Amino acid sequence: MRIAFVGAGNMASSLIAGMVAMGIDGGRISASARRPEQRELLKSCYGVDVHSSAGECAAGADVVILSVKPQVAQVTCREIAPHLSDDALILSIMAGIPVLNLLAWLNSSRTSARAIVRCMPNTPASVGFGMTALYASAAVSPSQKECAYSLMSSVGRAIWVGDECQFDAVTALSGSGPAYAYLLMEAMVEAGKELGLPSQVAETLTRQTILGAAQLASDQGRALQELRRQVTSPHGTTEAAVNLLEAQGFKSLVGRAVRGAARRSAELPLEL
Ligand SMILES: NC(=O)c1ccc[n+]([C@@H]2O[C@H](COP(=O)([O-])OP(=O)(O)OC[C@H]3O[C@@H](n4cnc5c(N)ncnc54)[C@H](OP(=O)(O)O)[C@@H]3O)[C@@H](O)[C@H]2O)c1
Repeated sequence: MRIAFVGAGNMASSLIAGMVAMGIDGGRISASARRPEQRELLKSCYGVDVHSSAGECAAGADVVILSVKPQVAQVTCREIAPHLSDDALILSIMAGIPVLNLLAWLNSSRTSARAIVRCMPNTPASVGFGMTALYASAAVSPSQKECAYSLMSSVGRAIWVGDECQFDAVTALSGSGPAYAYLLMEAMVEAGKELGLPSQVAETLTRQTILGAAQLASDQGRALQELRRQVTSPHGTTEAAVNLLEAQGFKSLVGRAVRGAARRSAELPLEL
């Protein structure tokens, strides 16, 4: 199976890193990027076949992963359409671009619809801990669904969503989510330093604490509230911090931020 990444920036590089680490041969992957230094990096790190032309990259691939910015989605789809194999499976990781638009831009002069799976991965895919939501268009066969699922599962967990409308929420939650965790970590490091810890110590404490908390939380049999209660003794130190966060509207602030990301995802197709 040949896999082509059309656009190979941050997210595609994370997926390539994860796939190669999980045993997919870099020689079966091709990637297009405009910057020569990015092409050189991908070639030297992962042994992938690199191209400056999106069309050349996609030509003859079994799976084509659309990973350019949404703003250049249309022009890129129209560029690759004549080069695609008839039975190519298209995975789009682009935020906010509906299947209907992709079908129109990719169909060229075809009479039957292309098989398109929308995916929303995230950057922890580079270390095998990605989270990808998938949605399949009507033309995707059961074996193509299996192919998309196993490809994205190779770099973490994957989950199907039944309604494309849910993709704005998915994008806001798991696509952008790693950034929220890093922002919290940055704030924790800053607070630790203000309390007098050396920078290196504050970083190590923060990174390992969030890693450990996430590892505990990965067991879905344990409610998040219960995990929190286990750290929060009555009248103790954690309770002092959590009460302050709640009194300052922490949950509602996070809710507003996530809804803002979902709104932005919904706006993207209107800007095309
Ligand atoms: N970053 C994330 O965490 C994340 C998570 C989920 C989904 N996504 C989605 O993944 C896609 C890529 O995001 P990213 O963060 O990886 O962006 P990025 O780092 O800017 O990468 C975009 C890639 O597309 C290439 N490109 C840009 N304009 C092009 C054009 N006109 N023709 C051909 N190639 C072009 C860029 O090449 P050069 O850099 O060489 O110019 C680069 O390789 C977006 O649609 C985004 O919604 C991102």
